[in-house]
Amino acid sequence: MDENNVDKIKFLDTPFQIGEAESPNRLMLAPMAGITDAPFRALARRFRAGLVVTEMISAQAVVYKNRKTLKMAQPWRDEHPVAIQLFGHDPGIMARAAMEMESLGADLIDINMGCPQRKIVKAGSGAALMKEPGLAANIVESVRQAVTIPVTVKIRLGWDDSSHNCVEFARQMERAGACLVVVHGRTRSQMFSGRADWKEIRSVKEALKIPVVANGDVTDIRSAAACLKTTGADALMIGRASLGRPWIFQEILEGDTVTPEEKIRCILDHLGMIEEHYGPVTGLILAKKHVCWYSQGLPHGAKFRQQVHRLTEFSRLKELTAHFFERAYDQSVLHSLSISMLDNSASAVSSCLSAS
Ligand SMILES: Cc1cc2nc3c(=O)[nH]c(=O)nc-3n(C[C@H](O)[C@H](O)[C@H](O)COP(=O)(O)O)c2cc1C
Repeated sequence: MDENNVDKIKFLDTPFQIGEAESPNRLMLAPMAGITDAPFRALARRFRAGLVVTEMISAQAVVYKNRKTLKMAQPWRDEHPVAIQLFGHDPGIMARAAMEMESLGADLIDINMGCPQRKIVKAGSGAALMKEPGLAANIVESVRQAVTIPVTVKIRLGWDDSSHNCVEFARQMERAGACLVVVHGRTRSQMFSGRADWKEIRSVKEALKIPVVANGDVTDIRSAAACLKTTGADALMIGRASLGRPWIFQEILEGDTVTPEEKIRCILDHLGMIEEHYGPVTGLILAKKHVCWYSQGLPHGAKFRQQVHRLTEFSRLKELTAHFFERAYDQSVLHSLSISMLDNSASAVSSCLSAS
């Protein structure tokens, strides 16, 4: 990595002020429905994610005191700072839900203005708010007035190719009282396809006084440095690249310093936390999804995933997982050792040859 990129990564490892909240660094875990639950957030924090965000929480369900939703929103143990993300379209309901979330322990409230799902946008929430900047600003104002903690928004570039309005929209959210904007560099119609447009995120950054966070397609140190360079953003948010790799935050901040032992401990702790949080029946379904992600790219991963799908008991999943990852990491360590030994002996041979 050139010196410029080293400086960029060093910058990511500096404290980040978001209104009255402070994140120890500038790498955040993106909100992901069905994924960024309490156990996953705890692991991302273990591996140095500065700020973590919950799955999106329905403001309406919070106001109705839906038990499952309140459990989903509840921050865990000592996880701070944590942002609770709300979705909805009614300023009054959003404000009431935000008050509830503040009393539950949220350090920040994030408002979802980017979810592309048909069910959500049909109701006027998520990315549909980008077509209603006046309403979106009302929501931010109402939530701001209802809570004492900072309010942030997460947006896309716009609704579709013919309506990129992120710059003007973000300005309006700033005027309404948002203290940070996260921009996912795609439109609603792109969903998750194509490449995130980091240049357009730069236009938002240049137009605002409040901090801007870039999101989309950051997957490693190289892309993190490139994204910071292109966007000039104040921080980065990582989503999909953390699936089966919650250690990505530490890898980016410190280089590749996560050992196979730490990875195995992480995977087994993850299963333990899932079982504790959901119980063995619901937990089994969720845990299967995660162990399959963890096994991507490892030797014999495909066979392991087939075996996982057939399991019906949590205890068997734990046994099989421990057995598989201990062997898989041993083998990949042995494999990389043998490659480096081959490299070394090859270079020893070539230096002998050049010396002779
Ligand atoms: C399975 C899944 C669930 C998601 N759920 C949410 C969500 O609840 N709220 C939200 O704002 N974005 C959600 N997103 C979008 C991510 O936060 C992020 O903006 C997107 O994945 C792009 O970042 P990435 O390239 O780092 O993954 C979700 C994405 C995925 C893949």
